[in-house]
Amino acid sequence: MLDLERLRHDTPGCLERVFLDSAGSSLPPQPVLATVIGHLRREAEVGGYVAAAERADDLAAVRESLARLIGATPSEIALLDSATRAWSEFVTALRFEPGDRILISQVEYASNAITALRRAAATGATVEAVPSDPSGSIDLEALDRMLDDRVRLVSLVHVPTNGGLVNPVREVVDAAHRHGALVLLDACQSTGQVPIDVAALGVDALSATGRKWLRGPRGTGFLYVRSELASSLEPSALDLHGAEWTAPDAYRAAPDATRFELWECDVAARLGLGAAVDYLLGIGIDYAANAVATRAEVVRAGLSTLPGVGVHDLGKQRCGIVTFTVDGIDAADVREALADKQITVTVSGRSSTLLDMTGRGLDAVVRASPHYFVSDTDIDRFLDAVAKLH
Ligand SMILES: Cc1ncc(COP(=O)(O)O)c(C=O)c1O
Repeated sequence: MLDLERLRHDTPGCLERVFLDSAGSSLPPQPVLATVIGHLRREAEVGGYVAAAERADDLAAVRESLARLIGATPSEIALLDSATRAWSEFVTALRFEPGDRILISQVEYASNAITALRRAAATGATVEAVPSDPSGSIDLEALDRMLDDRVRLVSLVHVPTNGGLVNPVREVVDAAHRHGALVLLDACQSTGQVPIDVAALGVDALSATGRKWLRGPRGTGFLYVRSELASSLEPSALDLHGAEWTAPDAYRAAPDATRFELWECDVAARLGLGAAVDYLLGIGIDYAANAVATRAEVVRAGLSTLPGVGVHDLGKQRCGIVTFTVDGIDAADVREALADKQITVTVSGRSSTLLDMTGRGLDAVVRASPHYFVSDTDIDRFLDAVAKLH
C-alpha cells in the first residue's frame, strides 16, 4: 500500500493548491524536476554533447521504460515532442490512394482531425466519422457497417479530451483488421492513467504525450509503431539519426520506429520523461489507475448532488476526466472563480472535439482531472467551492 502523504510530499505543487488538471498538464514529481534541472545545469557546465554522452545509458533506457509501460519493445518506440507530432507523423507516413477511407470517431481530437483532413485533401482519400453509441462509446455496429476494404486507417481515441469515457480497443482492432485497415490509438489521455498493453490490444500504432497523466515535462511525447510495420512507413522528415547516408545517391532508413526521431532533441526533457515513467512504474499502473478512477468517481458523485451543476461524462468504463457545467456561469468564469481559490481546473471548448460537442449541444465544459496525489480534503475543498459559485 502506497502512502498518499509520501506521494504528495514528492509533488510540491499539490501542497499549495488543489490541482485538478492532469488531463491538461500535470504536476511533475520531484525526481522529474531534479532530473531536468540537473541535466540543464550539467549542460551549462560541460556543453550539451558531453552532458548527453554522460547520460547515454539513461537516454537509451527512456525507450525501455516506455516499452515496459505499454507492453512494447524499445525499438517500437519513437521519442517525439508531443502526441500531435506522434499522431501526425504516423498518418503522414502512410500512403493513401484516391478513394481510400480514413475513419475517425465522434470524439476525435481537433488536431488529429485537421491532419486527417489535410492528408485526405492531398491524396484523394476521404475522412468519415464513426458515430458514438447511446453510452457515448464508439458504436461498434456502426463501425462494422462502415468498414470495407477501402478503409485504410481507423483512428480511435482511447479517452477523449472532453470526458471520462474509455473506448473499447480490442473490438475496434478486430473489426478493422478483418478488413485490412490499420488502427492508430490516440492514447494521449489514457497513457499513465489506464493500463495499456499494445500486444494484447493489437493496435498498429499509438500516440501519447508526456506532460499529462505520465507527469513528465512539457514538450515530450512518443509514438509506438508495431515492429513489422515501421519499415513500410515514410516519415515526413528523415535525418542522420533516423537514416544513414550510405552512398552519394543513397540512404537507408532505420528499420524500426526510430526512423521517426530526429537527432536534435531536448535531452533534459527526454531524461525527465524517463524519470516520470520510472516513477510511475515504481508506483504501479494498476495502483495509479485505481486511485485516479476512484477519485474521479467521488468528484462526479459530489458534483451531481449540487443544484445547478450538470455532469457530462459518458461511457460504460470511466476514468479520471470529469466534465461539468454550472447553470448560468460560463465555463471560463467557473475556471477563474476556482483559480481565485487556488483550485486548478480547465475548460474544454467545442472546437477541440467539434463533432461530439456539437452533437451534444455543448459549447464548453469545465474539466476536472484528479491524479492519484489528490487528497479527500482537496476534493472536499473543490466541491465546496463549486457549491458556493451561485
Ligand atoms: C485526446 C487528445 N489527443 C491528442 C491531444 C494532443 O496532445 P498534444 O498537445 O501533446 O499534442 C490531446 C491534448 O489535449 C488530447 O486530449
